[in-house]
Amino acid sequence: PAEDEARIDDIKRLLKVHNAVLVAHYYTDDAIQQLAEETGGCVADSLEMARFGARHDADTLVVAGVRFMGETAKILSPEKRVLMPTLEATCSLDIGCPADEFSAFCDAHSDRTVVVYANTSAAVKARADWVVTSSIAVEVIEHLQARGEKILWAPDKHLGGFIQRKTGADMVLWDGACIVHEEFKAKGLEDLKALYPEAAVLVHPESPASVVALADVVGSTSQLIKSAKELASNKLIVATDRGIFFKMQQAVPEKTLFEAPTAGTGATCKSCAHCPWMAMNVLDNLAGALRDGSGEIFVDDTLRAKALKPLERMLNFQR
Ligand code: 13P
Ligand code: SF4
Repeated sequence: PAEDEARIDDIKRLLKVHNAVLVAHYYTDDAIQQLAEETGGCVADSLEMARFGARHDADTLVVAGVRFMGETAKILSPEKRVLMPTLEATCSLDIGCPADEFSAFCDAHSDRTVVVYANTSAAVKARADWVVTSSIAVEVIEHLQARGEKILWAPDKHLGGFIQRKTGADMVLWDGACIVHEEFKAKGLEDLKALYPEAAVLVHPESPASVVALADVVGSTSQLIKSAKELASNKLIVATDRGIFFKMQQAVPEKTLFEAPTAGTGATCKSCAHCPWMAMNVLDNLAGALRDGSGEIFVDDTLRAKALKPLERMLNFQR
């Protein structure tokens, strides 16, 4: 629509005026991903978003995604202004892991190395030895396991369980889940597989173990897009937020992509997987943030210094 086009032009202009760059996650709206692409920003998974923001020399980072992504950007780049289209966009994993309860859990397992998923608050990260995203979680745990360390993992029990099964590491798990990925159903996936036996199944590891068990590939959003290109199959069934289809279809225009079946609690459609918090990022509030500086992220200095250490370990980690 014409009003979207006017808004897009406005955002492009404001990005220049503020020497700002747009960093968007694959789960945000197509229009936002396209804008990030066209304006020299990035569309990426959580780890790449963090790396891109930290390296970029813009004065302002506009982070389209959910709150932990903005907080991570601010922790890594305190000198930059970090704006988000809305500060309301949270994550069920973050909500399900309050810092005080988490701290008590750590105290109860003080002999363990604390590894937290990036989908957590700055306060939870501040209590951790390591932060990881799904793209390097297995490698980091293998590294710690080789050093003989026992692990406390939080908050995603499905990702934690996946890592545990894959590595055999000694891990205690926090009981959290992503409300989007938890809805994928093994039965529905098996039925779809029966219709398209030649299709490959790509699954994000925040999904339940029964769904992961049916996967040909398990990985972060970027890893799933990469494997969509590499897999020989021309039909792909994808179990992650449907926002990923924008870039995945661009990457494999000749292939047919199917959404893995869910129980039907999508944010904008009844039977699709779509994160309600990612969906809060729209052109209107993105323009608003740039125009009036709303949605600015601040992180307390003491917390920031503490959360920076485990985040830097992640960014500096090399196998
Ligand atoms: P990745 O993009 O790192 O795979 O994480 C997915 C996610 O949880 C974002 O909400
Ligand atoms: Fe959190 Fe799941 Fe939404 Fe990602 S998709 S932000 S993990 S609730």
